[in-house]
Amino acid sequence: ESWDMGGHDTYMHKEISEQAEAVDRVLRGRIDDRFSTVHLGGLNLDAREARGVRRIKILGCGTSYHAGQIGAQLIEELARIPADAEPASEFRYRNPVVDPDTLYIAVSQSGETYDVLAAVQELKRKGARVLGVVNVVGSAIAREADGGLYVHAGPEVCVVSTKCFTNTVVAFGLLALHLGRTRDLSVADGRRIIAGLRRLPEQIADILSREDEIEKLAEEFTGARSMLFIGRVRGYPVAREASLKLKEVSYIHAEAYPASELKHGPLALIEPAMPTVAIVPDDDLLEKNRAALEEIKAREGKILAVAHREQEKADHTIVVPKNEDELDPILMGIPLQLLAYHTALKLGRDIDKPRNLAKSVTVE
Ligand code: AGP
Repeated sequence: ESWDMGGHDTYMHKEISEQAEAVDRVLRGRIDDRFSTVHLGGLNLDAREARGVRRIKILGCGTSYHAGQIGAQLIEELARIPADAEPASEFRYRNPVVDPDTLYIAVSQSGETYDVLAAVQELKRKGARVLGVVNVVGSAIAREADGGLYVHAGPEVCVVSTKCFTNTVVAFGLLALHLGRTRDLSVADGRRIIAGLRRLPEQIADILSREDEIEKLAEEFTGARSMLFIGRVRGYPVAREASLKLKEVSYIHAEAYPASELKHGPLALIEPAMPTVAIVPDDDLLEKNRAALEEIKAREGKILAVAHREQEKADHTIVVPKNEDELDPILMGIPLQLLAYHTALKLGRDIDKPRNLAKSVTVE
């Protein structure tokens, strides 16, 4: 992959289209089938130290923060270590309690985002151990961290991050698997997750091959003034990232909400002019998510579902391939990157350089 646009009209389109190969790259050379685990040489964390970690705190901004939210869920699910993500920009200003048994992870595409770098420096000053999950090799955050893993997304030029988000989440999948296998994740579960990771490139290619369907759908959203994105547990960070993508590139207002919280307020917004995009994975929360769709339909809200099978209450379902439950969030946001792109294209937006934004925010 290079800086050449390779026949695409924008870097955003090029970068969305490169995701199957990019994911292949983050996996390459890291999987250890013999022990159903992965090798992450740059972590600088041996098995004994990994077992000593009591808590994980993930810090990033914007899209990297959303990737960290999915990462925290993966770590809790596979390694059973309590984990959460917080915007680095908030963390550094709230005089956080820095705990020696917590492992801190800084996430950044550019590796230069000032809020993340400042959080890392403050943590290091207080003696914390900080890992980096970074795309740009040799960047400031990568250099400051005690170790970490590169996400190998390749150069990302569009201000709006797409392929790096996907690769960062896959990198967290590798880290979660590694930590899990130093703890209680069984060989069988390790094998199951590895098989799921290996299926990703082909499944991504399958989603991308249905771009025409998504392009047609985008037509319906160009007139929207505001949109709601909902998801539950694994689907919620996916909804957050999809709503950020749409906002950044199309300038349509979008708000993400946990589907479980609809009845506590946002239901009041539902009417025909307020479309909802719902993330509906085929997991143990499927029926709960369907109930939310019913609530929206009963109020004449238009629904676009991203799901593993057709959703009766939705006006349209984008069906995505099923992976392991834990890895489904990696795939479910990809059609919504294309939706944001095509909506912005139809609205004539400056896709690679949205107004008021910079690729890397290196100032306070
Ligand atoms: C992504 O679409 C955004 N433009 C933005 O939120 C970005 O993710 C954020 O500024 C963090 O950048 P980083 O990953 O380079 O640290």
